Amino acid sequence: MTINKRILIHGGLILLGSGVLAACSPQASSPTDTMAQADRYDLQLDMKAYMNMVLDPVADILWDHAGWVDDVNTGYEELYPRNDEEWLMVQQGAAQLIEAGNALALPGRAQDDDGWVTYANALSQAASLAYRAAAEQNQEDFFQAGAQVYSVCSACHQTYNPEVSRFVNSN
Ligand code: HEC
Repeated sequence: MTINKRILIHGGLILLGSGVLAACSPQASSPTDTMAQADRYDLQLDMKAYMNMVLDPVADILWDHAGWVDDVNTGYEELYPRNDEEWLMVQQGAAQLIEAGNALALPGRAQDDDGWVTYANALSQAASLAYRAAAEQNQEDFFQAGAQVYSVCSACHQTYNPEVSRFVNSN
């Protein structure tokens, strides 16, 4: 867990750094290219491991706290955070999901520079809606953001690995 977190934060900072460089200098192609080298990143997690160990658990933090369940045995239960501490916890989950979107788009991990990166960015965007909703403790917006995250997961799986769809959310 600590290792995963470190990789995510690291990846996020490097991406941010290269963006700033590109913005500051009109001829930033050489430093940007250098920083984009895949060997700048620790990509030991293959896509399966990344999904199972990083992305899925962090998305679950959001989904486990959105909406409600109505169970024949246990009855109706609201899943939303109930106090400041729990809202902070889901906000942290949303922040990690924003960064997980960045980690998905890393050179060497991204399967192409086109649709893949668009989906990865869309994941971070949906996560940032969740981040804002959690900050405002807005249940409805938080639920909608969770649904949007889910639709990005599904859309990417549909495009890149249709086999996956039946696994996701089954835990
Ligand atoms: C940018 C594309 C992309 C996005 C976005 C994406 N995935 Fe995946 N996901 C994949 C690909 C490709 C695989 C297949 C990996 C493999 O088997 O090599 C996969 C596989 C998986 C698997 C199955 C892993 C296994 O053991 O076979 C799970 C679970 C999963 N993704 C969860 C998620 C969740 C949850 C989200 C959203 C929060 C998500 N994914 C978003 C591309 C994506």
